[in-house]
Amino acid sequence: MRGKTIVQLLNVQKTFYPSGVKALKGVNLFLEAGSVHALLGANGAGKTTLVRILAGEIQPDAGEIFVDGRAVNFRTPKDAMRHGIVLVHQNLSLVEELTVFENLFLGREPRRLFFLDRKKAEQRVKDLSERLFLVALDRRVVDLSMAEKQKIEIVRALLFGARVLLLDEPTAYLSESEEERLFELLASLKRNGCAILFITHDLNQALKIADRVTVLREGETVLSEETSHLNVRQVIEAMGFRSSESPRVDVEIGEELLKVSDITLRSGKRLVLDRVSLSVRQGENVGLFGLGNDGQFDLLEVLIGLKKPVSGRIFFQARDITRLSIRERRRLGIAYVPKDRLREALNLEGSILENAMVNVYREIPFAKFGLLNWALLQDYIHGMLKEFQVETNSIMQPVKTLSGGNLQRLILARELFRGPKLFLACRPTSGLDAQVQHYIAERLQQLKSWGCALIATNDAEEAFGLCDKVLIFSKGRLKRTLYKEQLTEPSVLVSLVGEQT
Ligand SMILES: Nc1ncnc2c1ncn2[C@@H]1O[C@H](COP(=O)(O)OP(=O)(O)OP(=O)(O)O)[C@@H](O)[C@H]1O
Ligand SMILES: [Mg+2]
Repeated sequence: MRGKTIVQLLNVQKTFYPSGVKALKGVNLFLEAGSVHALLGANGAGKTTLVRILAGEIQPDAGEIFVDGRAVNFRTPKDAMRHGIVLVHQNLSLVEELTVFENLFLGREPRRLFFLDRKKAEQRVKDLSERLFLVALDRRVVDLSMAEKQKIEIVRALLFGARVLLLDEPTAYLSESEEERLFELLASLKRNGCAILFITHDLNQALKIADRVTVLREGETVLSEETSHLNVRQVIEAMGFRSSESPRVDVEIGEELLKVSDITLRSGKRLVLDRVSLSVRQGENVGLFGLGNDGQFDLLEVLIGLKKPVSGRIFFQARDITRLSIRERRRLGIAYVPKDRLREALNLEGSILENAMVNVYREIPFAKFGLLNWALLQDYIHGMLKEFQVETNSIMQPVKTLSGGNLQRLILARELFRGPKLFLACRPTSGLDAQVQHYIAERLQQLKSWGCALIATNDAEEAFGLCDKVLIFSKGRLKRTLYKEQLTEPSVLVSLVGEQT
């Protein structure tokens, strides 16, 4: 089945205005039927821009796109869809309050489907979902895991006849087992002749799953090769990175900063956290690891004050903070990076400056006697963005013009730059390229000399790479603690989750 070229891009270019950023300077790429292609590159290299062009969301300034050998010119996503090309976004586009079934038909010729062809449509969904093990169609999307949502997006694409599937960082929030299931699904689509292009920052994964990889660097194709001819080092070099070792350092353990006792959290009838107790001292970065949503993310929401536990107490530097507001907790030196960054951490309509300053503009020395010291504030923000390598032309730019990885850098910069005493973060390094992941790992090591971090994750590599100690969660319960000596490789974490203790 493999071989026939479905899509070909020649010298595609794109400049964004008014900033004048040249996102694509000349990209070449081809996609073959029955193959998986990985698109790699540093944050801001132009990956998302490229797939958005292919999906008809934005138009290139120059270059050519061929589908089945014929030149095409997509003005809207519908044009691309007509040729069977569909993009599954970096940030999923499902409507949380609707059911799976409703989401599957959202925005696509509803009249015909709902009034005339509903029976036929239902049958098709049923066939597809049986084949792909989709969750029950009447469930509401808000109750589903990230992996399930992703699958719905993919099924939605297939329903409308997709034969070229573009996936923008589909594994960024998946756990290992969810990832495996996604790749099984992709493999079966590949056997049916689909062409799949997926973006990832996990180079090992790319080389394992893909038949071919293309690397973008500053808007240009710098490498395009069959994976059988490549190793990780060659890819890292093409991206313009140096390979480096994990920076873990030991510091002396200091006072107890956080003590959590007997936290129980419910969501309706469901027990989300079941009498969780833990203690974290200055000088240690602690991972909260579970295979999926096992309560580790909810615990951080409780600690920052977003969710109210039904029982239990939280002490920060020996002070009971259980009843303090989010703002009061932040003032004490607690910082927080949520899991759903776009919705919870950013004002997408605002500028980079507005988003960068939210935590500090009301504080001394920036605000005094009710007056804002703009010059000082801008200097501070510039310094912060530079340190965390957030790539911007101007801080007045709308924040949504940043690439996915740069958005993530901005949030981390904002939360880490002030040197928090307690840093709470959900999946802090997901979406970051290898170079910046390494930089964040270093920052978290520095943090230990005055504070500590709690990292909630379902990615064993992340817990392993960032933490000195890992607490294993399963279904809302703290199952066991793994100390440094026991953290010999990431797979240890996964193997211990199922164990009864
Ligand atoms: N709508 C836009 N307006 C202005 N600039 C944009 C817009 N979209 C992207 N850019 C800029 O184009 C460049 C490429 O961005 P793109 O999102 O394609 O990167 P990426 O390779 O997907 O990065 P990441 O790995 O961080 O997601 C970046 O400099 C980005 O700031
Ligand atoms: Mg992107």
